[in-house]
Amino acid sequence: MESKDEAKTTDWYELEAGESKATFLVWQDLTVIAQNWRNGATRKLLHGLNGYAEPDRIMAIMGPSGSGKSTLLDALAGRLSTNTIMKGNVLLNGKKGSAACRDASYVIQEDYFLGTLAVRETLTHSAQLRLPSEMTNNEIVEETIIKMGLQDCAENKIRNWHSREISKGEKRRLSISIEILTQPRVLFLDEVTSGVDSASAFFVLQVLKKIAHDGRIVVCSIHQPSSHLFELFDDLLLLSCGETIYFGDAKFVVKVIN
Ligand SMILES: Nc1ncnc2c1ncn2[C@@H]1O[C@H](COP(=O)(O)OP(=O)(O)OP(=O)(O)O)[C@@H](O)[C@H]1O
Ligand SMILES: [Mg+2]
Repeated sequence: MESKDEAKTTDWYELEAGESKATFLVWQDLTVIAQNWRNGATRKLLHGLNGYAEPDRIMAIMGPSGSGKSTLLDALAGRLSTNTIMKGNVLLNGKKGSAACRDASYVIQEDYFLGTLAVRETLTHSAQLRLPSEMTNNEIVEETIIKMGLQDCAENKIRNWHSREISKGEKRRLSISIEILTQPRVLFLDEVTSGVDSASAFFVLQVLKKIAHDGRIVVCSIHQPSSHLFELFDDLLLLSCGETIYFGDAKFVVKVIN
């Protein structure tokens, strides 16, 4: 693994100086400290993590509840809460802090929508707000609906908890659809398959893998995936108590940990 790391570091510096189209995300000595404003006590949530994510690959962040998965995603995406301090570097193609710019999108753990809108309407409104050209909006919305397998429920209203017309899996796919409308170069997803059945989870991950293979970086936290789901990941970052305990090719983890 060390030789792979070294090779990537070299590529990275070449990218920094050159004109490569590929996007690389690197984090160096990443530490997040939470402050408790009442008594001034602090707590380290992430302990000097190092790693990188590369295009054409999909990375899983795994670890027990409270190990720091969401905190790491938040730190990489530049959306940590205000009571935290981040130390270290997050670099997107060698530039500091750029993961928070429009090149990156973040799908949060919960799905929030306006219940009175239908699926296609939700995507159309989002496209109108976020995309520069109205000419291509409809085309992009239709492409996204097909890509995410939402054709059958496109006219269904989302509704809310007491009367719903779309399933949890469809809601999750809609959340992802909204974030991929802008075709971000980096896509972060927190608990990507939370609350969806295994068939939907498999479909979602297959779509994300296709998105990654389109030259994008996909990093997602995932809770206890089945072996079928796990096999879809290229890279794995395993966290425990805010520390990296494995970082590398997902298929070698069993060998290394044993
Ligand atoms: N802003 C904050 N202030 C104080 N403590 C925090 C803050 N954010 C997270 N924590 C704490 O940091 C630890 C890691 O939280 P985090 O949400 O990253 O875990 P997680 O691995 O995503 O867990 P889960 O699988 O339950 O979502 C937890 O103990 C949490 O209580
Ligand atoms: Mg979390």
